[in-house]
Amino acid sequence: MSTGTHLARVRTFHPRRGRMNGRHADALARLWPRWGVAIPEVPTARLDLAGLFGRRAPVVLEIGSGMGEATIAMASADPARDYLAVDVHTPGVASLLAVVEERGLTNVRVGLGDAITLLRHMLVPESLAAVHAFFPDPWPKSRHHKRRLFQPDHVALLRSRLAPGGLLRCATDWAEYAEVMLETLSADSGLANEHDGYAPRLAARPVTKFEQRGVEAGREIFDLAFRRR
Ligand SMILES: C[S@@+](CC[C@H](N)C(=O)[O-])C[C@H]1O[C@@H](n2cnc3c(N)ncnc32)[C@H](O)[C@@H]1O
Repeated sequence: MSTGTHLARVRTFHPRRGRMNGRHADALARLWPRWGVAIPEVPTARLDLAGLFGRRAPVVLEIGSGMGEATIAMASADPARDYLAVDVHTPGVASLLAVVEERGLTNVRVGLGDAITLLRHMLVPESLAAVHAFFPDPWPKSRHHKRRLFQPDHVALLRSRLAPGGLLRCATDWAEYAEVMLETLSADSGLANEHDGYAPRLAARPVTKFEQRGVEAGREIFDLAFRRR
């Protein structure tokens, strides 16, 4: 078994407990079998995206969907594409499932687990039309930088799963991390910056509670958009 290599990896998240209200617990129990995607620590099978969504449409992966506000807004406005939102935080996943049902969205599926594991072991190269990562955890302390999502090996993995011409969109409210993201993405020769430096705010991206907290704390918001060559 190769579990050692899987389990020893540095994670980009802190496992956290979260309380679920009754509505969310109910949504998880009812809707997970329909729209949930389990991401085991050691996946043994590839994910069949066409089978998952019941059609062959371009797929957008959102990494760290949190409470799912961006997923809901963007998937509702973009019915021709399918959205796979992934987070490790169960209450957020439950909340997203509840809203997907409430809005009658058919183009959203929700993964629970580590998006890096999903990308590396469950998605084949060139299978995604876009990857979104909005407000990835900034891990501000230097000793935690190794946990960041945006580092060269993760970026190479993300890029490899994008189809040629596919778009990687991200945003952060952490200025120093924004610079690192810009440098790391620019250094990947398989990606081309869509703009000269940072991107204008993506109009379809709603202000999440997380972003709002950053704005209220006086932080600037940085968007980035890179296309796979
Ligand atoms: C700062 S929050 C931002 C949430 C949301 N995108 C927003 O803008 O409100 C970052 C989220 O990324 C999730 N996360 C971090 N690393 C992850 C990983 N490897 N796989 C899945 N989710 C991850 C965390 O659990 C957290 O919910």
